[in-house]
Amino acid sequence: MSLILGIESSCDETAVALVTRERRILARLVAGQESAHRPYGGVVPEIAARAHVEILPDLIEQTLREGGVALGDIDAMAATAGPGLIGGVMVGLVAAKGLALSTGKPLVAVNHLEGHALSPMLTEPELAFPYLLLLVSGGHCQLLLVEGLGHYRRLATTIDDAAGEAFDKIAKLLGLGFPGGPAVERAAEQGDPKAVPLPRPLMGSDEPHFSFAGLKSAVLRACESGRWRAEDIAASFQQAVVDCLVDRTARALGAVPEASALVVAGGVAANRSVRSALEALASARGLPFVAPPLWLCTDNAAMIAWAGALRFEAGLIDGLGAPARARWPLDPEAERVRGAGVKA
Ligand code: KG4
Ligand code: ZN
Repeated sequence: MSLILGIESSCDETAVALVTRERRILARLVAGQESAHRPYGGVVPEIAARAHVEILPDLIEQTLREGGVALGDIDAMAATAGPGLIGGVMVGLVAAKGLALSTGKPLVAVNHLEGHALSPMLTEPELAFPYLLLLVSGGHCQLLLVEGLGHYRRLATTIDDAAGEAFDKIAKLLGLGFPGGPAVERAAEQGDPKAVPLPRPLMGSDEPHFSFAGLKSAVLRACESGRWRAEDIAASFQQAVVDCLVDRTARALGAVPEASALVVAGGVAANRSVRSALEALASARGLPFVAPPLWLCTDNAAMIAWAGALRFEAGLIDGLGAPARARWPLDPEAERVRGAGVKA
């Protein structure tokens, strides 16, 4: 049995977890920083980095206590080494290096996107490679064929905004507060998804990618017109995003008949409309549908510890000089397209 401590600090969540290769989660703690960023209506990178510095040491101690584990019991220290807000990434990575140095245990530098990509396997032991992953978060909107540990083929990405970013911006526009995704989802429950006519960018297109900028501008115009209730705008926007996600995912499924399952991960996967529409798509194609539990969809350290456990088992450990990387694509072969947020 190998026991891995994972640290996540690439955005506005400070998180620490203890996970074994046998999928036992001994402890998982997440400290959000919403109140620090709320006055600004979005994540402020320097405030996030400073908060990680203050929160992380206590959170590590608390995680060890809750897991009933001593530092010496841990087999490897894993931390997100990118992509993300670089100040925060450096805090978590250096903390893991300190733990590795003081215990003599190896360091595993984890790609945050690989954490999301492998997260469904932590709670779904049956899930096997290759699977089609829709990774939808605040900084990314990608379709990846997950072929094996370290092997990811990017089939599509966004040419402008990420889906979560669009949710956050619409929430701001509608005055629904921060973080935006859950607020838009709540407002949408009280609205009519057919009320406001909105575009579905790239839907039906031969191009594989996503686009949400045109949708965002259309929502802005709908708000300015004063014709619609905020709830109806939220519901219509959410429906447009769902339609785009399903259309693009359906196209990708056609391109990878070898995929054994459809999997969704990332913060937007917490959205119930998104989940149920993808589930319907998978079932129409006769494929199993896997969505991690909500706590595993949004940023957390259990997914980093889990990716760390798989890498450690495969002998993929890193030196203490491992760099922090603001940009770190999962598929190095994929061409760069316009857009690309810093969040993952
Ligand atoms: O993966 P994540 O926690 O952080 C990174 O971006 O790496 O994803 C956060 C994103 C935010 O944009 C947030 O608004 C969105 O996921 N999100 C949601 C929901 N919960 C979180 N979007 C739509 N519906 C939700 N229920
Ligand atoms: Zn993330």
